[in-house]
Amino acid sequence: MKAARNGQPFLTDVEELRDRARASIDKGAVTPNYQGDVKQTIEILQSVLATEIVCVLRYTMNAVAATGISSDSVKEEFDEHAREEQEHARKVAERINQLGGTPNFNPEGLATRSASQYVEGGNLVEMIKENLIAERIACEHYRELIRYFADKDPTTRVMMEGILVNEEEHANDMHDLLVSHQGTPPLERK
Ligand SMILES: [Fe+2]
Ligand SMILES: [Fe+2]
Repeated sequence: MKAARNGQPFLTDVEELRDRARASIDKGAVTPNYQGDVKQTIEILQSVLATEIVCVLRYTMNAVAATGISSDSVKEEFDEHAREEQEHARKVAERINQLGGTPNFNPEGLATRSASQYVEGGNLVEMIKENLIAERIACEHYRELIRYFADKDPTTRVMMEGILVNEEEHANDMHDLLVSHQGTPPLERK
């Protein structure tokens, strides 16, 4: 650590940074000042990856199977969400790889690694409801992870924040669809 003007430890000397980077190039993006627990981060991200894959599967299945009056716009929404979940899965997999792990795409055990469940829903309203539940689980889970990563791993945190923004939109979309297809009044707002 180098002393800053006010005597507080501040930025690491550039020379030292370069030397350290050179000495451990095999570690890829994980440098010595990574404050998180790499193994644990990878483990957490494997579960996020599984959650995203399950979402891709559920939305894709729903987009194909949705029937009934005005199902076209709902199908489109399901399709769009499936695409976005796929992007999330890709981002998370890339991050696992950056941290030196191997992203787990193995279908075996996928449902148990995932935070959200794969529930098909027998009709349009049930599908929308199940998706809303899954999105709310993802939002809650990701919010917790963001708090966990905090400054320990800002890159993973920022990635999760971006994904969370998207999941909140998804939850909102599903809520809007539920209201218009079920005819229930909007939830009480505080
Ligand atoms: Fe997602
Ligand atoms: Fe989502």
